[in-house]
Amino acid sequence: MARNVLAVCWRQWRAERALDRRGVHFRSTVPAAVAAAYAAMSAAEFEAINGPQAWANWRTIPRAVRGRLPDRPCRVIDLGCGTGTSTQVLAYATPPGSLIVGYEQSAQLLAHTGRREYVHRGGHPANIRFVCQGVTEPFRGPDGGRLANGSVDLVSASGVVGHHLNTGTIRPLVGELRRVVIPGGLALLDYGPTLPAAALVSLLGAAGFLPLGHYRSWPLARSGQVAFRRPG
Ligand SMILES: C[S@@+](CC[C@H](N)C(=O)[O-])C[C@H]1O[C@@H](n2cnc3c(N)ncnc32)[C@H](O)[C@@H]1O
Repeated sequence: MARNVLAVCWRQWRAERALDRRGVHFRSTVPAAVAAAYAAMSAAEFEAINGPQAWANWRTIPRAVRGRLPDRPCRVIDLGCGTGTSTQVLAYATPPGSLIVGYEQSAQLLAHTGRREYVHRGGHPANIRFVCQGVTEPFRGPDGGRLANGSVDLVSASGVVGHHLNTGTIRPLVGELRRVVIPGGLALLDYGPTLPAAALVSLLGAAGFLPLGHYRSWPLARSGQVAFRRPG
């Protein structure tokens, strides 16, 4: 396993260096710069720079949601889904029959989501849709309409909130979480260099969400996810 992880990190470093040379800098909290950088990547470059995140997702998301979702098909949103790597993990880890909607602002990356298989851990194909939109815009459904209040069981984010948002830009997203997550529902949000866990817990706490636990891919990881419950 250590060799695999090293290979993933090596690919990430090489791809990021090549992007840097082309003037593509995705490590930013400036919305226009983030959008331009991801739009300028090929799918192969994206998968290389996202490799460690894709690896981490299998170690955090299943643990964070286990035993915390109702035993029925759920309505799930995957914020900043890229080419569908995190959506695959959510398809695996959420109850069979769940509808998982991935939000992504890069149409170029979304075009590659169809290459993947989205399968529940029981082997059933999952019910997946994608919407091209920003994570700080009002949440829309696959039909383009605004999502109803209290209509989502789980909103998950990996590699986006703690890497591209900060305490100022996250506010519209927190408002949408308050609006769409059902009482008793979950928000699983990533923290990282641009938004530390303490700031995330404080912002979500002020919006009425209770922290349930912190999840990291390995003990020294500097980014991870916090699971929150909306009391109900
Ligand atoms: C590091 S990747 C993570 C991809 C995926 N969630 C995963 O865990 O493998 C970050 C993704 O978030 C998207 N993103 C960044 N800011 C966004 C925003 N404001 N709205 C929608 N997508 C955004 C990027 O285009 C990119 O696909």
